[in-house]
Amino acid sequence: MIVTYLFYADWKLTLLILATLPMMVLLTQIFGTRMRPAYREVREQGAEVNNHLQDTIANIKLIKACANEGYEIDRFAERNQANMAANIHVVRLWSAFSPVIDFMNHLGHVIVLVYGSWEVMQEALTVGELAAFLAYLNQVNQPAKKFSRIIHTIQKAAAACERIFETLDEQPDVQEKPDAIALPAIQGHLHFEAVDFAYQVDRPVLQQFSLDIQPGMTVALVGPSGAGKSTIANLAVRFYDPQAGCIRIDGQDLRDVTMRSLRSQIGVVSQETLLLYGTVRDNIAYGKPDADLETLIAAAKAAYAHDFILALPQGYDTVIGERGVKLSGGQRQRLAIARALIKNPKLLLLDEATSSLDTESEHLIQQALADLMRDRTCLVIAHRLSTIQTADLIVVIHNGTIVEMGTHADLLTQGQLYAHLYSLQFPKILPPEFDPALGVCPAVNTDTPLSHPLSLV
Ligand SMILES: Nc1ncnc2c1ncn2[C@@H]1O[C@H](COP(=O)(O)OP(=O)(O)OP(=O)(O)O)[C@@H](O)[C@H]1O
Ligand SMILES: [Mg+2]
Repeated sequence: MIVTYLFYADWKLTLLILATLPMMVLLTQIFGTRMRPAYREVREQGAEVNNHLQDTIANIKLIKACANEGYEIDRFAERNQANMAANIHVVRLWSAFSPVIDFMNHLGHVIVLVYGSWEVMQEALTVGELAAFLAYLNQVNQPAKKFSRIIHTIQKAAAACERIFETLDEQPDVQEKPDAIALPAIQGHLHFEAVDFAYQVDRPVLQQFSLDIQPGMTVALVGPSGAGKSTIANLAVRFYDPQAGCIRIDGQDLRDVTMRSLRSQIGVVSQETLLLYGTVRDNIAYGKPDADLETLIAAAKAAYAHDFILALPQGYDTVIGERGVKLSGGQRQRLAIARALIKNPKLLLLDEATSSLDTESEHLIQQALADLMRDRTCLVIAHRLSTIQTADLIVVIHNGTIVEMGTHADLLTQGQLYAHLYSLQFPKILPPEFDPALGVCPAVNTDTPLSHPLSLV
């Protein structure tokens, strides 16, 4: 509207003023392309500072134990410095751009004053019209100024959005099919068929892994550290999909069923005991949020956690801190077992579930688990071979493949890798053919030597 009036009042003068417009657009463009990466850097450096803070606070005990406070303070100072430098860079860019835009605006005024005055002298324009021109020009300039500020805000927001969209666009590795069906109540028949799996393309973890676990069976997975035992448990709950082969529960391919129906029927005690910030009750009930108190206590008793829970200041209502810091490793593990048991699952995956327990607690839990395992399928992973001797089947994994299978007695008589590992834990029953000088049992295939023969101890 105002521009139309300006054209009407004096089109030549208006055209002269508008000649500054392409300059402004060009400058805004140049500024925009330099501002965006600068803001991206600010976001990244800010994230670095936050990550470092979170990491150091979470691992404060490790830092103190290694007396690395000074080192961490220096690293934090470095990140802060980089963050400050990124922010200063942005402020510098803005400080350079802002006056240039102001200058362009004022240039318009100068043009009006010089050329307008000349026109007044030529009597092509009256002084009143010139004054009106100047007043209207001011009104055009205000939005132009605002626009340059908005560009600044847009660039800032765009850099932030980039990071948000990166996260939102991230596709989960494991996706539920649109036509996935709800897995009906399972019997607990778990079947791995020629499974190939790798976390990274060129580093296979499982190769042609096949295993059939009939309902009600207790199968133990043993093998050296890094052999792929936890990976097998992770595949059974479909945290990952195999690259080849398939995994079935009761004949149903895991990829064809909904995650919820699958995972709600499997009890998992993972190698890393995870507790949430909240009460003991919340933590146990997390496995089955609608469980009543009676079921909750029954699960706690079965996991030999009830007594220590009652000894806590507020019993089941005691709040356990971030990662359960107020509890001992064994107590946390018992809570995790209770959480898995409360679901009363037909399939139970226990990955080093009793590794943090003292011998007595372990013995008690073993007894409780033995009762609980009776009518459900259990996949037990244990380094302590004493805990899995009663398993129906012991599967020995080495480098992602099965090297031996059988009961404890069978495997001991076979005198291969299991017997060797067992002898390391119970030296009294050293098999005669074991050669301590070699460090391995001669019967073991030495083409693929154990990286750490003693890692099971
Ligand atoms: N999330 C992951 N990303 C990439 N590689 C992984 C990941 N988890 C495990 N690995 C690798 O896969 C291999 C098998 O790991 P896995 O955790 O299954 O071993 P494990 O037999 O359970 O060992 P441990 O007895 O020490 O628990 C190892 O070489 C490990 O480095
Ligand atoms: Mg493991």
